[in-house]
Amino acid sequence: MSLIKKLGISIKRKPIKREWLGLIEEYRNWLPVSEQTPIITLQEGGTPLIPLESINQLIGKGVKVYAKYDGLNPTGSFKDRGMTMAISKAKEAGCEAVICASTGNTSASAAAYARRAGMRAFVLIPDGYVAQGKLAQALVYGAEVIAINGNFDLALDIVRELSEKYPITLVNSVNPFRLQGQKTAAFEIIDFLNDAPDWLCIPMGNAGNITAYWMGFEEYFKENKSTKLPKMMGFQASGSAPLVLGKIIKEPETIATAIRIGNPVNKEKAMEVKKKSNGEFISVTDKEIIEAYKLLGKEEGIFCEPASASSVAGLLKCKENIPEKSTIVCVLTGNGLKDPDCAIENNDASFHSKVDANTTEICKIIGF
Ligand code: F0G
Repeated sequence: MSLIKKLGISIKRKPIKREWLGLIEEYRNWLPVSEQTPIITLQEGGTPLIPLESINQLIGKGVKVYAKYDGLNPTGSFKDRGMTMAISKAKEAGCEAVICASTGNTSASAAAYARRAGMRAFVLIPDGYVAQGKLAQALVYGAEVIAINGNFDLALDIVRELSEKYPITLVNSVNPFRLQGQKTAAFEIIDFLNDAPDWLCIPMGNAGNITAYWMGFEEYFKENKSTKLPKMMGFQASGSAPLVLGKIIKEPETIATAIRIGNPVNKEKAMEVKKKSNGEFISVTDKEIIEAYKLLGKEEGIFCEPASASSVAGLLKCKENIPEKSTIVCVLTGNGLKDPDCAIENNDASFHSKVDANTTEICKIIGF
């Protein structure tokens, strides 16, 4: 018997309550689900909007910048928002297997949600171009991983063809339920700020997420939940910038492997978002991406993956054009732990290894 019990002390603990039920339950009225839809959830969404003081200072002009840190979703990326919807709807339709092409995050998320729903998950990835953490996730979540000799664009062509011919549901962002789930991030931003931001800065690969955010902003605006619509600022890596250059890139390259995409499937939708929101699509170099990535880590304590840092790199690139006192949200789409190799290669930390285990040695290093 414990000492506390022996002494007759009774401690009443409040039960830990997690209020957030996952984005489908939280935004049910805004989503195409019914009582019949089985909700497959890992309680995704409800991610924080974190003020970025160091970025405010770099920009000045009374500008307020926030990070929508979607790397804190259950599998570490925004894909979970789309996947809870896509997999729930696939389950409702009686589907037994799903397939996707992926630069890594979609495959991790699809695998987690599909297996949770008792389905098989087939994922096609470009061999050698998926960050270690993402590959590890797909494997542990029990996906059937097929690494192809080819890039993401080729993998997507293959899975689209297979899903048309065979009874297997495609869960890339051409699946409309994905975008439905992802639009909830825009709802969360407005619910938190009590209005839409002036600018939304977001990385673009296939341009599904920018399309989804815009859908969310428009829906809330129509219901008078915000007084304005944001300017949508989409950023791509300069070696993989088909939407900026207005042409397909046959061999896309960038350190930000998540957005190493040369032929985005949602390009028409993205161009419409740009036009309607009076937005801009701009490219950032790998060097600029890594600078923003390191800045977020060491000045803000936020570890995101390189693709995600392109939203902040892009904002800093446009700094002269930001109107005074603007409120800006940068979307950080994925967690930094996804890509440990990039982190270890790109940091300014001092790393002392093989140090003798005694206080004298340690004091020397610290400078005492
Ligand atoms: N950021 C991250 C971390 C991503 O993984 C992706 C896309 C994007 C941004 C771009 O989003 O395609 O909607 O414009 N990743 C996909 C994948 C392609 O397979 O994981 P998008």
